[in-house]
Amino acid sequence: MVLPEDVSRFVRASGPGHIEVQERMAAFAADHDFPNIGPESGAVLRLLARLTDADTVFEFGSGFGYSASWFLRGGADRVILTEFDADELDQGREFMTEAGLADRCVFEDGDAMETIDRYDGPFDAVLIDHQKERYADAFRAVRDKLSPGGVVAADNVMRGPIDFDALLAHAEGVAAGDDTAEDAENPGAALATANDQTRGIADYLDTVRDDDAFETAVLPVGSGLAVSTRVE
Ligand SMILES: C[S@@+](CC[C@H](N)C(=O)[O-])C[C@H]1O[C@@H](n2cnc3c(N)ncnc32)[C@H](O)[C@@H]1O
Repeated sequence: MVLPEDVSRFVRASGPGHIEVQERMAAFAADHDFPNIGPESGAVLRLLARLTDADTVFEFGSGFGYSASWFLRGGADRVILTEFDADELDQGREFMTEAGLADRCVFEDGDAMETIDRYDGPFDAVLIDHQKERYADAFRAVRDKLSPGGVVAADNVMRGPIDFDALLAHAEGVAAGDDTAEDAENPGAALATANDQTRGIADYLDTVRDDDAFETAVLPVGSGLAVSTRVE
């Protein structure tokens, strides 16, 4: 039997390594116990940028630029980084400048949910990786700003500050038609005692799966990535 940790090691060992600046970002994250997206999901972001031939990428929650660096490796012309911790954003600016990547970055200090209102798009790729309770709102804020064929990736749909067992019970309940939830405030039975982050992820997955203009697949890489593409 293949164990989940072996699958994770295999995906990591078979995927791309870090470039120099990512090595330093990863060391900085380890020193500060900072939850970046990791190389397994980073490789998917690189792939998404490449497959969409991305001109513009928007991120909700950029930290100090690790996830953005993967989109840039995939050839994205421009990444809009949003972060409400000004020190983290400054650190990101420093990393990107040292790596010669800063001219392809826009650094937006402040609440990503307000920053998005100042952009019309179109975006070819979007990463949602900020407050889990606000994922569905973030999706609603960008859905009409995506190019046709554009993608939205949401991190932490399987791991993080969430109760995976409750999410699993909810997903199976929805599939069987007996755990429907209108929104995070009115969760289905499986989520009744779950924390706000778990409800936020469940609400997000319900929202993207119910949207006929999008097709969604959940990838069990890193902390779990939900990838949705605009088909209408
Ligand atoms: C999981 S980390 C992001 C990691 C980053 N995507 C990466 O992989 O390198 C989440 C970040 O989102 C930021 N954040 C949370 N809510 C935010 C918001 N509403 N607006 C801007 N930044 C936010 C946090 O300060 C934190 O740095």
